[in-house]
Amino acid sequence: MAAIHLPRTIRIGGGVLAELPEVLAQNGLSRPLIVTDAWIESSGLLERVQHLLSAAGIASRAFTGVVPDPTIAAIEAGCAFLAKGEHDCVIGLGGGSPVDSAKMIAVKGQRRVPDLKAPHQENAPGLPIIAIPTTAGTGSEATRFTVITDADTDEKMLCAGLAYLPQIAIVDYELTLSKPLRLTADTGIDSLVHAVEAYVSKQANPFADSMALSAMRLIWPNLPRACADPSDRQAREAMMLGALQGGIAFSNSSVALVHGMSRPIGAHFHVSHGLSNAMLMPVVTAWSAPAALPRYADCARAMGVAEAAESDQGAVGRLVEALHQINADLAVPSPQTYGIDKTRWDDLLQLMAEQALASGSPGNNPRVPGVEEIVGLYRQVWG
Ligand SMILES: [Fe+2]
Repeated sequence: MAAIHLPRTIRIGGGVLAELPEVLAQNGLSRPLIVTDAWIESSGLLERVQHLLSAAGIASRAFTGVVPDPTIAAIEAGCAFLAKGEHDCVIGLGGGSPVDSAKMIAVKGQRRVPDLKAPHQENAPGLPIIAIPTTAGTGSEATRFTVITDADTDEKMLCAGLAYLPQIAIVDYELTLSKPLRLTADTGIDSLVHAVEAYVSKQANPFADSMALSAMRLIWPNLPRACADPSDRQAREAMMLGALQGGIAFSNSSVALVHGMSRPIGAHFHVSHGLSNAMLMPVVTAWSAPAALPRYADCARAMGVAEAAESDQGAVGRLVEALHQINADLAVPSPQTYGIDKTRWDDLLQLMAEQALASGSPGNNPRVPGVEEIVGLYRQVWG
């Protein structure tokens, strides 16, 4: 049995951004607040979206104060901006940070963000959320999660519940064509990790499995292509669909140990989300695989790194090897080569392991670690 939750409307394909006014009308929405960041504003995309709306007679306001790894302070500023206007929906325009910010701004109301962190579940809808991702990607356009950082405690808080599931997702791969190599690589690996973790999770179910396997088939061959040639439209389109399916997969299953351990690295050392996932993925996969060998072997086969006839053990060996190789190919650093201070890293390992466990994600891993085992895994990925 499984409970499946999806956006009410997903428009997908090159150029679907142009359908935004029509989709809003179809959903009875007419007074959007756009939540985005300075980069999207300076790129001209915000102006393009506002022009699109005004040409259809829809007046919008834009909050451009989103910061990477959205903080409580930035969310509060967005909520204050929202309160000064008359809005009936919130549009998140950009990468994971604007979409995650839009979700919290739409839902929070007068409450404190820390009161909303997992294991709290927020299901009652706030304002309708429209997600327009510009990366492939966090998959946030189709998930019931948002992640907000408490800058005082350096904690990335996972906030969960149906309230955060966008009502509408506009998934237009053309918005990713201009994205640089590092962003393409990091967000693409994040998508792959979503698919693999959803598939091996204790919450896995046949619906999420189908999305996860499809995502793996799309992402594995197309990520190197999109990185090698940012204008490769076929690869970009496949990555955008794969990222969406990866998001649907983990939203209806879960993420697991990689994400649990990744959030504290991002919070304490300001490593981007996809990059910290990539640092962890090969080692955590090797450690977890003995507990779910057939499931990891399925992943290897879906990605095409193992033949159908190969034994599970052999396929998993190839999977771990392939994950190390893609990190090398995409120049993913280790925490050490990223430049993290060794003393600070060592001092924080215990706290990071505790924060990883508290998020709940490691509990869905096929092999569930204790604090000391997580510390050991952090030590293993260091160099
Ligand atoms: Fe992620």
